Amino acid sequence: MKKTVTTFHQAKQNGEKLTMLTAYDYSTAKLIDEAGTDAILVGDSLGNVMLGYSDTTKVTMEDMIHHGAAVARGAKEALVVVDMPFMSYQTSTYDALVNAGRLVKEGGAAAVKLEGGCEVCDAIKSITSAGIPVMAHLGLTPQSINAFGGFKVQCKDEASARKLISDALAVQSAGAFAVVLECIPSKLAALVTKILDIPTIGIGAGSDCDGQVLVYQDMLGMFSDYTPKFVKRFGDVGSVMTEAFKKYIEETKSAAFPSEEHCFKISDEIIEKLLEELK
Ligand code: KIV
Repeated sequence: MKKTVTTFHQAKQNGEKLTMLTAYDYSTAKLIDEAGTDAILVGDSLGNVMLGYSDTTKVTMEDMIHHGAAVARGAKEALVVVDMPFMSYQTSTYDALVNAGRLVKEGGAAAVKLEGGCEVCDAIKSITSAGIPVMAHLGLTPQSINAFGGFKVQCKDEASARKLISDALAVQSAGAFAVVLECIPSKLAALVTKILDIPTIGIGAGSDCDGQVLVYQDMLGMFSDYTPKFVKRFGDVGSVMTEAFKKYIEETKSAAFPSEEHCFKISDEIIEKLLEELK
């Protein structure tokens, strides 16, 4: 059954945990969808894990549309949420609306995600008033990495914890259907989860959130540039891939691959005739 924002509302009401994983291409989206996740996030983390940038600020609308559309073709049941890239919604509510619309029309999004609290509430209102569901994102918001001065745990002092709570209430009032809480103390995430009517989706925010999200390359051990403390490795696919690549290289060099079973046949008669003609 197709998952929608209603799935998110109902899960919160029923106290059922929600799952979200990132994907950036058709084949991976298909595998994740078949595994039964509630949502697939086409995160702008694609800048790091797919494109090799050091942060997400270089990711463009074209990148998000290209990868979003591929994921949407592979996701039959999961809700497809596509990230709004840096500077696609901060400049004006008009830009926010136009770019959210493009992510739906061209990028296969059923919902969009954007980073920030009170300062993006007008954008959230504008986008949701056009019938596009918005997922908010608070705590460590990677598009503001240059302002944070690095990837660090957020909201540890009283003032920033209070600000997080008021931002969470503000994005809820503006119409967000869910909010990602990234890299904040677990007890603060639990408190925010308790006071909000919309579900919280945690990443580095503890087990009391209404759901969890992870970058799939992180949880499969496919990305080794850095591994945040909050990542659990659910598989070692990176090693499996490296082993298979090595085997392929070895067998190709030794001519063990391709063998008969991977080859196509033609009659000897035709080959002999061709050889004769080419003499
Ligand atoms: O871009 C992304 O993958 C994200 C998740 C880490 C929440 O925003």
